[in-house]
Amino acid sequence: MASDDSGPLPSQGAAPPNIARAYNHLLGGKDTLEADRLLAERMLEAWPRAADAAIANRRFIRRSVRFMVEQGVDQFVDVGAGLPTENNVHQVAQALNPDARVVYVDNDPVVVSHGNALLAGTGTRMLQADMSEPAAILDDPAVRELIDFGRPVGVLFVASLHFLSPEEDAHGVVAAFRDAMAPGGHLAISHGLISEEIREAVQRYKTATDRGTPRTEAEIAAFFDGFTLVEPGLVPLGEWQREPAEVPENMAGLPMLAGVGRR
Ligand SMILES: C[S@@+](CC[C@H](N)C(=O)[O-])C[C@H]1O[C@@H](n2cnc3c(N)ncnc32)[C@H](O)[C@@H]1O
Repeated sequence: MASDDSGPLPSQGAAPPNIARAYNHLLGGKDTLEADRLLAERMLEAWPRAADAAIANRRFIRRSVRFMVEQGVDQFVDVGAGLPTENNVHQVAQALNPDARVVYVDNDPVVVSHGNALLAGTGTRMLQADMSEPAAILDDPAVRELIDFGRPVGVLFVASLHFLSPEEDAHGVVAAFRDAMAPGGHLAISHGLISEEIREAVQRYKTATDRGTPRTEAEIAAFFDGFTLVEPGLVPLGEWQREPAEVPENMAGLPMLAGVGRR
């Protein structure tokens, strides 16, 4: 492990540590710099289960996208998408429906430039935008070109809404997407749950990053206002339509909830 010194992380020339590349390192990705790996170590010191959570979120993406494609959804907007790694939305969706289209949205320029390189030729787009301004995403010409909001859309906020501060009105952000969604659209969310474990981790984590707003179960449930939660409802992250073979012990009890709602 890296030292527990919480001072500034080293940057490498023009490349300071990047949270998305650090997250990618937790997932076993290779596209990282030394400063990102140190940041990942610091995240693990703050919250030793951060890597389990990252893996569990990718599994939730795979299961929820598969579910949505089975419901007939063939177009997706993945908000706070992170660096493309394995089990990306387009890979899961296009394996079942080769015509599926995906717009990935992230506000991190590193994610977007890497993403566009990695996604070339896959029939997807990566848009650099801040989710706290949903109208700019919904009205973006590149989004409108690929996504027909007159038909069902799958919208994902996987481990991303808890990066919006209380002042940024995360519920208003989700409501803006909801109001743009046609019947049959689906909303998939995973989100950090307020708990003693996560409260302490966020305090430590803030020294490594600078963000993190876990919410209560009622606050997370309220993101689904105007949607009908599908089975099994809003549940611990590792439990959502869990496949028994793919859930090792360490996925249990993560302080995150996940759910999928139908418009
Ligand atoms: C923990 S990662 C989750 C990535 C991916 N959804 C997953 O579960 O593997 C959170 C992502 O949200 C992005 N993010 C944070 N705040 C954002 C904002 N205001 N607008 C858009 N993206 C944001 C970060 O850049 C990061 O890539």
